[in-house]
Amino acid sequence: MDLPRTVSIIGTGSYVPEKVLTNHDLEKIVETTDEWIHSRTGMRERHIAAPGQASSDLGTEAAKAALADAGIEAGELDLLIVATLSPDMFFPSTACFVQEKIGAKNAYCYDLGAACSGFLFALDAAKNQIASGAVKTALVIGTEKMSTFIDWEDRGTCILFGDGAGAAVLQAGGEGRGIMKSVMGSDGSLADLLWTPGGGSRNPISHEMIDQRQQYLKMRGREVFKHAVVRMTEAVVQALEKNDVGVDEIKCFIPHQANIRIIDAIAKRLGIADRIYTNVEKYANTSSAALAIALDEAVKDGTIQKGDLVALTVFGGGFTWGANVLEWNR
Ligand code: UT7
Repeated sequence: MDLPRTVSIIGTGSYVPEKVLTNHDLEKIVETTDEWIHSRTGMRERHIAAPGQASSDLGTEAAKAALADAGIEAGELDLLIVATLSPDMFFPSTACFVQEKIGAKNAYCYDLGAACSGFLFALDAAKNQIASGAVKTALVIGTEKMSTFIDWEDRGTCILFGDGAGAAVLQAGGEGRGIMKSVMGSDGSLADLLWTPGGGSRNPISHEMIDQRQQYLKMRGREVFKHAVVRMTEAVVQALEKNDVGVDEIKCFIPHQANIRIIDAIAKRLGIADRIYTNVEKYANTSSAALAIALDEAVKDGTIQKGDLVALTVFGGGFTWGANVLEWNR
């Protein structure tokens, strides 16, 4: 049997829409304060898509930036995966809309649903497709227009989310270890702690469902917080073990950007506070886009350099969670 191939990230990109919504702006929408939001979450502002902009539009901008960074044409892509919980439509997939916009004519395309964990799950799926030899080049996108699916009357959730997209181009080859093995998990018994209960086949669109505001994201924040800390910490420990990497070898640690207090709690448990990358202050929680945007920014601002080991971890609705380690090789 052939040895698995090295799979590398050869380009990254990200995009956030122009409009910025600050905590002070939110004070005019719900009963809240900048002080409460910043002290509880670390967030100062978030970006909000224009009414005509859908998730595929945000994803397309991130995709174009990632392809330019990689120096390849869209026609070279064999596979395109979009991770999103805010698709343009139930079907066809948002990935097919992005394919059309960027001209990725030779790619097969699908969406992946793992809520905020989606980008890491998609990265793992694409990596394994490449490592198996089935495809050579893949584009993975995390894109969200969360502003459509949050309840702007619920101060417990509407302050937490933002819109944006991030993307990475993956290809067979490269020096060193590239994208290593993931650890991923799910627990469907806790689905009702973080979900959008209305609008699907369980609770279809009806006047009654809409009157009850069931089409919007619902979250039991305190419970989600505890699970997020435990699962992401465990996942990182397991991913380091699985890849035979010591915590001290990690140069940069990028967690899901949901709340600075969650990030701080994980950093403390793992003893890595000095190596944490965070941008939650600028973008709030962009769900499946958060990890992808942070990775792109950490590469572009020089935090991540060639040869560095990077740990990624995510947590989201489902529940779903995971971690991975990369050797940055470009
Ligand atoms: O991406 C998927 C993962 N998502 C997450 O990881 C989010 C996890 N959860 C959290 O980040 C936090 O739980 C929150 C930021 C959502 C809330 O922070 P908390 O410290 O857990 O606050 P809490 O829910 O316990 O609420 C404390 C108080 C409540 O008032 P009472 O009941 O103590 O009187 C809330 O009504 O704060 C009140 N509150 C607010 N006050 C001002 C809730 N939201 C707001 C608000 N402004 N926006």
